[in-house]
Amino acid sequence: MTLTAPLSGLVPASRRSDVAPFIVMDVMEHAARLEASGARVIHLEVGQPADPAPLTARRAAAAALERGQVGYTAALGMPSLRARIARYYQEQYGFALDPERVVVTNGSSGGFILAFLALFEAGDRVAIAAPGYPPYRHVLSALGCEPVLIETRAEDRFALTPETLRAAHAEKPLKGVLVASPANPTGTMMDRAALTALHAAARDLGLRFVSDEIYHGLDYAFPAVSAAQIAPDAVVINSFSKYFCMTGWRVGWMVVPEGMARTMERLQQNFSISVPTLSQIAAEAAFEGRAEMDAVKHGYEENRRILTAGLPRVGLEHFLPADGAFYLYADVSRFTGDSHAFATRLLDAAHVAATPGVDFDPFRGKQFLRFSYAGSPADMREAVERIGAFLAKE
Ligand SMILES: Cc1ncc(COP(=O)(O)O)c(C=O)c1O
Repeated sequence: MTLTAPLSGLVPASRRSDVAPFIVMDVMEHAARLEASGARVIHLEVGQPADPAPLTARRAAAAALERGQVGYTAALGMPSLRARIARYYQEQYGFALDPERVVVTNGSSGGFILAFLALFEAGDRVAIAAPGYPPYRHVLSALGCEPVLIETRAEDRFALTPETLRAAHAEKPLKGVLVASPANPTGTMMDRAALTALHAAARDLGLRFVSDEIYHGLDYAFPAVSAAQIAPDAVVINSFSKYFCMTGWRVGWMVVPEGMARTMERLQQNFSISVPTLSQIAAEAAFEGRAEMDAVKHGYEENRRILTAGLPRVGLEHFLPADGAFYLYADVSRFTGDSHAFATRLLDAAHVAATPGVDFDPFRGKQFLRFSYAGSPADMREAVERIGAFLAKE
């Protein structure tokens, strides 16, 4: 047998790994360069809490580290953490959840990989909303599935609806649908009726239902409803990253339909053996730090008030309802047809970093900017003034 291609040092990467980068990273780098030259940049681009994990979590991790024994845990997670998460569903939603249905994951990012692998075959088409969180489509395509972006409308609070889902399925059959409420980048939420109707449509069409609930706990307009409450067949993905301020700890969880935990267990055993043990210990203790986290949430509510009152005053009056999470998605089409260039000018001229909508929406992203209000109220006030001065000159 002869080699068909000469051996060379060049190794081309696979086609499936050819996923798009995050433009927000470019903004962050640009901001870092400005800061290195002495500028004080206000960061409204990063989607992570400025506050640390609850003290209860940090203390528990420190004590465990001191004891020193940090071995693997069960692939599905520490039984005590799985039981504590199940109890949280009772406390938060009044819903009795069997701990056997809880799977601890490497952040919700780890949950997506397990869920997509467990639910879909290569080639399956999965509906997601546009605008939406970019890794949904990138992870699906890296796994050989086809993300099907459905444009959402203001009158539907920028969520998928039974009608838009049915229309996409009629065009070419889908195998699943993924929803997020509160959503990134829009900050909008689906109420119980909207979520229930969408799930009923998915069930009628025979579609698998995935619900990203990472921003639960950060709901301001009305209480967030978990798909676990209304749909025993839904796969729910959640995380300690946002409400519990634990982004870098890389710990999250899933609630899976009865009987599916074993599938997740086999996948997780092979992919990562288990989730970092110190992070699981911290996560379990984080539930006892909810008063601290609720105080952080009240800070976001204050930030939300400052932005929703301040931005219209300085000329940015069009934005989506800021229902939850810590994002405000603003329509900047009055000022630009290119939100990326606009974000660059805003950063250079006003030293305010924001994320262009093109990261989240290939259709209308050029008209939008995402502002994250996970920082301090003082920064939000200053940001409004700086944006106002900038827009006055645009
Ligand atoms: C909507 C959404 N889902 C999931 C994630 C991933 O979070 P993690 O892997 O830290 O849980 C993020 C992070 O920003 C997000 O915005």
